[in-house]
Amino acid sequence: MAWIVQNRLQPYRARTAEGQGPWITEAIRKEIVATYFPRYPRKQAALLPLFHLIMHTHGYIAPGAIEEAAALLEITPADVQDAVSFFEEFRFEPSGKYVVNVCRSIACELCGSEAVIARIKEVFGIENFETTDDGMLTLFEVECIGLCEMAPAALINGAVHGPLTPDGFVATLKALPPEMSHNGHGH
Ligand code: FES
Repeated sequence: MAWIVQNRLQPYRARTAEGQGPWITEAIRKEIVATYFPRYPRKQAALLPLFHLIMHTHGYIAPGAIEEAAALLEITPADVQDAVSFFEEFRFEPSGKYVVNVCRSIACELCGSEAVIARIKEVFGIENFETTDDGMLTLFEVECIGLCEMAPAALINGAVHGPLTPDGFVATLKALPPEMSHNGHGH
């Protein structure tokens, strides 16, 4: 389960220097060129892995990333846009300071995740995939995050929380500091 935590921290950290390209960093470019281009007859076949890497690095897909990807894959920006907009997992707006992943899979559901999610939505006025107006929280309902023994469980910027109660978790979210440290949060 450690890799999940690491993966989910990564976009958040990278995003603190938000708004500027290059969106295809040297590391991303190298991985795509070395690992994916040789596998396929056409460069555009690397589109999905490319955008997964962009998402993991930046937390979202900025318009500039579409342009850069088009140049790298040698297709038009419109073609790139069409392809990526097809996938629900890609986001096109920056996330809030705190990315809240609440598990809604079976073990967590049986232990009350639905009530936790409902309370977050009610208190913070957001739906799944949405960010609060103050930019603090983005809610993602996610599938099993490997923390079933802590059900219902959640991650806040990669830090593990659980078992959750609706009131307890809302209190935790409300107590998050406006300025975050760089080593994750929670207990
Ligand atoms: S079902 Fe929620 S962490 Fe596994």
